Amino acid sequence: MAENFSNNIKYIGVDDLDIDLFEGQYKVPEGMSYNSYLILDEKVAVMDTVDARKTSDWLANLKKELGARTPDFLIVQHMEPDHAGSITAFTEQYPNAQIYCTAQAVKMFPQFFDGVDFSGKLNAVKEGDTLALGQHILSFIMAPMIHWPEVMMTYEQSEKVLFAADAFGKFGALSKYDGDWACEARRYYFNIVGKYGVQVQNLLKKAANLDIKTICPLHGPVLTENLEYYIGIYDTWSKYEPENEGVLVAYATFHGGTAEAAKKMAEILKAKGAKKVAIADLNRDDLHEAVEDAFRYNAMVIAAPTYDGNMSPAMHDFLHHLQLKTYQKRRVGIIENGSWAPVSGRIMRAMLEEMKNIEIVDTVVTIKSRMKKTDIASLEQLADAILK
Ligand code: FEO
Repeated sequence: MAENFSNNIKYIGVDDLDIDLFEGQYKVPEGMSYNSYLILDEKVAVMDTVDARKTSDWLANLKKELGARTPDFLIVQHMEPDHAGSITAFTEQYPNAQIYCTAQAVKMFPQFFDGVDFSGKLNAVKEGDTLALGQHILSFIMAPMIHWPEVMMTYEQSEKVLFAADAFGKFGALSKYDGDWACEARRYYFNIVGKYGVQVQNLLKKAANLDIKTICPLHGPVLTENLEYYIGIYDTWSKYEPENEGVLVAYATFHGGTAEAAKKMAEILKAKGAKKVAIADLNRDDLHEAVEDAFRYNAMVIAAPTYDGNMSPAMHDFLHHLQLKTYQKRRVGIIENGSWAPVSGRIMRAMLEEMKNIEIVDTVVTIKSRMKKTDIASLEQLADAILK
């Protein structure tokens, strides 16, 4: 198992198979892992804690790997509670350990741990600072907004390990991992880190100067092979380039009329040779998977009924998510529906126009209640424009 990649760096993270929604919003049917690592040298360092949901399991893992030793240092790379949630449990057990984190993280301690006295324990580090454990030397790399402002990463020089905080993470518990990294890493990336492409690009430039043999993220498997692939795909994602040629057809529907038109659209796109067509029912399917597919492919068709003089709330929510995650550089077609005064097309267009570098196809297909034979020609025309 990749988690046994080193004799001196031990995986002490935990799986969470009981969680329903990660960060209170993301579906994680395969659970989640909160990774943490122990570095054993003349000095002993713990790399991050875990979510408070799993403190006791984590402390048990830590104790087992420590044997008779005690930690000298706790490195806090990220203050989000899925990683920092067991800090106080740690300091209660190991009161002499010193904590290393960014200056921004130091400021967050009182926000998260009201009334806890960390005086004399917190050490702020900056870009390039090092901490020697013996043979192992930790260098700190500032990584603001990946995906909070206080984030840093850590490079261990002797074993060439990058502790990558949230970067290269994925949804899913390690015990459920089947080797398919990209699917849940992509959903994780675009929904959680997606807005911060510029910051990821900055990090990748720094990483290019490092000799990296192993990536230890805070979620998902330790990466030991084929690192060019993972770094390359992060480069594509953070540049907002499409990963694959294809079209997402995302629709909302009340009585099935818009769904019928959207499904016909998907069928036409396939018949016209689209490399891949993904389809999402925004009321029923996982919204975050639809966001993922919007970024994955180079084109999208959105279809929504008119609702209260606006568009259906599910489509509004989807487009709002895309705006937040800075959806850009894609071609988009519009199908609207309305039984008496269809306006959803105009409103969807207005939201798309607020995004960067979106080519909106001029042909808007308007369905009145139900798709007619005469609408097929318009759908064909829209498909041609999408695939051109
Ligand atoms: Fe895994 Fe940003 O926390």
